[in-house]
This record gives sequence, structure tokens and C-alpha cells, in this order.
Amino acid sequence: MNTAAAAAGPTGPRPVVAFAPAKLNLFLEITGKRTDGYHDLETLMLAVDWYDTIELVPNGGQSIRLTCNDSSLPTDGRNLVYRAAELAKPDSGLDIRLTKRIPHEAGLGGGSSDAAATLIALNEAFALGRTHEELAALAAQLGSDVPFFLAGRTGAGGWCTGRGDMVEPVPVGGTFHFVAVKPPVGCPTVEVYKRTVLPTTRRNGQEARDALERGDPEKLADGLFNRLQEATFLLAPEVRDCYDRLIRSNPLGVQVTGSGSTVFAVCRDRADAIRIANECRTPDDTTVVLRSVESTR
Ligand code: C5P
Repeated sequence: MNTAAAAAGPTGPRPVVAFAPAKLNLFLEITGKRTDGYHDLETLMLAVDWYDTIELVPNGGQSIRLTCNDSSLPTDGRNLVYRAAELAKPDSGLDIRLTKRIPHEAGLGGGSSDAAATLIALNEAFALGRTHEELAALAAQLGSDVPFFLAGRTGAGGWCTGRGDMVEPVPVGGTFHFVAVKPPVGCPTVEVYKRTVLPTTRRNGQEARDALERGDPEKLADGLFNRLQEATFLLAPEVRDCYDRLIRSNPLGVQVTGSGSTVFAVCRDRADAIRIANECRTPDDTTVVLRSVESTR
């Protein structure tokens, strides 16, 4: 999360704008089923340059008012941004304007990233003084992917375990280029987990992790894996169509991110990504060229 303007000054909290990036899962293996209904996993995540924007304006009252450019999303306690603002407990009410660009039910972590961005921005704007550990505990209450985004400025990598909420930062050795294709259908996470067959032999994410650290896209493509992928294909054949279309454009590798429905290709460089996006684009899907560039936005 990156805040464009922020902080509590001598005159109190000021408006703040936060950018919330999307993530891609480069590796995801399930290591067990837990008694709380979640799965233990190992996943390698990378934040990329596709952003939602959150504007927070203290309103001097007591209530939180959330508005969103996407009218299909709830703007009450069902929205993670609203819940993050409630959990952060600022000492003034807030007007929050959420501008969604990252699709939802897409495996891109948009809602989780929005929640993390809200926690960080409120901590700064209201000088709440919470430590990273305290923010991480709040983040884990909001969702398994939220803690990753606390440190998830664009270009950040993380090796996430537990239910995904235990985050070890991974240094990223270069800029990676991707094409993401999101079919019109979404994949509800719960449904994807329900259809996933637990492994008898566990895959190892070290190759993908090493490749990320070395900045090597070819090796990264070799190390791609997502245990949830087959279930997304079963749930939504459109996801498999996007996968097949990307493969035909001959990138270095192709994979579903998280619980889908977005499919991404690992590309050789920016020009390769633009070529692949142009070959794969259809009127129905959302097709985006992405990179993992370190950003100050
Ligand atoms: O944590 P989050 O709210 O994002 O999880 C949504 C759903 O995805 C959970 O209710 C659970 O069914 C499934 N899930 C899981 N194991 C994980 C993360 C999510 O089973 N590690």
C-alpha cells in the first residue's frame, strides 16, 4: 500500500489517498486441512501494478460512509474496507471513496489489498501509533490475504504460510512482466477450496522463490504451480479457455492466480507482454499488461 498524501498534522487528521495493488500467486500448495475449516498452505505472492484507490476524508462525525464506483459491491459491513475502518477505530467518522479497478472474485486480492491499505492509511492519518504486529493481527481478522498487503507495495514479494496470513518478505531481484486475463465469470473462493483435491505428494515452491529472488522469468515459469487451478477449471470452463488461449501465444508460462478466475502469463519482457495481450484480447475478457516494478505510487 502506498499513501499519496497523509498524516496527522498539528491541526488533526487530513484527507489521505491510498493505492492498493493486486497480487499474483506464483506458487500455491495446500499442506493440510485445519480444524477451523481453513487450509494450511504455502504460497508465493507478488504485488503488481494494478490498483484500486481509496480516499479517506475525516468527516468530524461518528459514522463511516463508504461510496464505491462499482455499484455491484456492498458499501456496508460486508465490504472489507468498511470493516477495516471499523476495526481501526479512528476517533472521528470518515467519508471513504473506493475506486475499484481490480476485478473481484478474480484471485487478485483486490478486496484484501483495499482492507490493508485502509488500515495503514488510517494508522497514519489519525496517528494511531499501531505497530506492524498490531496491524498484522487486525489484518488477519479481515482475511487470509490481508497481512501480505501490509507490506505489499508494488514489486514486493512474500512467502505466505498458515492460512496465508503468516508473511515472510521475499526480496525480488528484477522487474517481471505479465499478462492477466480475467474472464467475465468470477470464482467464489469457498467453492474453489471445496472442489480442490488435497495432494498426496506435496509440491515444493523453492524453485519459484529462488527465481523471484534472482529476477529470472524463465526459471519462475518453470516453478509455477497452483493446487487450486484444477478446481477453478471445474467451476468455470471460461477459466480454462483463457488458460488455453494464453498458452497458444507462447509465453514462458501460464497459471491461474489464487482461486481464480484470472489467468496470467509470465512474459519475457514488456514487448513480449504487449504482443501476447494483443493476441489474446477478446471483447468479453479483461486483458491487462502488468509488471512488478517497484513503485512509489
Ligand atoms: O480468509 P478469507 O476470508 O479470504 O477466506 C475465504 C474462504 O476461503 C474461507 O472461508 C475458506 O473457505 C477458504 N480458505 C481456505 N483456506 C485458506 C484461505 C481461504 O479454506 N487458507
